[in-house]
Amino acid sequence: MEPGSEPLNPGPEGVEKTGGLSAAPPSTERGSALRKGIRSYALRAGRMTDFQRLSYETLSARWCVPFRSGEPFIPEAVFRRTAPLVVEIGFGMGLATAEIAAALPDRNFLGIEVHTPGVGKLLSEIERRGLSNLRILHHDAVEFLETCAAPGTVFGFHVFFPDPWPKKRHHKRRLIQRPFTDLLASRLAPGGYLYFVTDWEEYAFWAREALDSTPGLANRFPGGWADRAPWRPVTKFERRALTEGREIRELWYEKA
Ligand SMILES: C[S@@+](CC[C@H](N)C(=O)[O-])C[C@H]1O[C@@H](n2cnc3c(N)ncnc32)[C@H](O)[C@@H]1O
Repeated sequence: MEPGSEPLNPGPEGVEKTGGLSAAPPSTERGSALRKGIRSYALRAGRMTDFQRLSYETLSARWCVPFRSGEPFIPEAVFRRTAPLVVEIGFGMGLATAEIAAALPDRNFLGIEVHTPGVGKLLSEIERRGLSNLRILHHDAVEFLETCAAPGTVFGFHVFFPDPWPKKRHHKRRLIQRPFTDLLASRLAPGGYLYFVTDWEEYAFWAREALDSTPGLANRFPGGWADRAPWRPVTKFERRALTEGREIRELWYEKA
């Protein structure tokens, strides 16, 4: 199957309730006609701790950016400064996100995640570390990038260990595939980058093929895998992958 060759037909998902908070992002758009793109996530069951819930309830007004379909995202208004914008798609629990934002204070970071417990966790980290250069969007990144992010406004995309969707019938749910990569390329500013990391060998080759064929993107490590960026921390997930014998593969593309 060619990447992107099958249209996606999102089916109904069970929406986990996490003690009054839905695991789903707070949106009225989910499942609407607007959602024609990839359904790259499954709203998984997972306990939300009391601390994550409290963090979500008390801190989201401060650090979360509301999703408003079609309304342009203006980083200068959100961060109250001009700095290169890095968007992370699917930050999970956000520990790498917080570390990177702390390591690179001259950049603005927007972490996007649909999973409520992870949003709660990262909110608490933002507060604990005083990360004024990091905001969260609790929504589907695909829809946000389609409808709110203007072309040429993103300096970097981070996609770390995205769901590999290993079954063939689920490959259409993989985030990194065309035409979504064309959308990512269009949102990048000239000289901007896309940084992808996976422990799933077959997805690594799939992603490289998709990115190689995306107009406007060039592999900075032609034909090969990228080196680890010095500021990308080794996460618990990554350590487990290494222990279990899975190789980590990285890709770094730049907007030509
Ligand atoms: C396998 S986890 C990896 C999390 C993290 N990046 C890490 O390295 O541990 C993938 C995450 O991406 C999120 N995700 C997948 N598609 C998404 C989308 N379209 N918008 C926002 N988040 C998404 C999922 O909810 C999940 O938490």
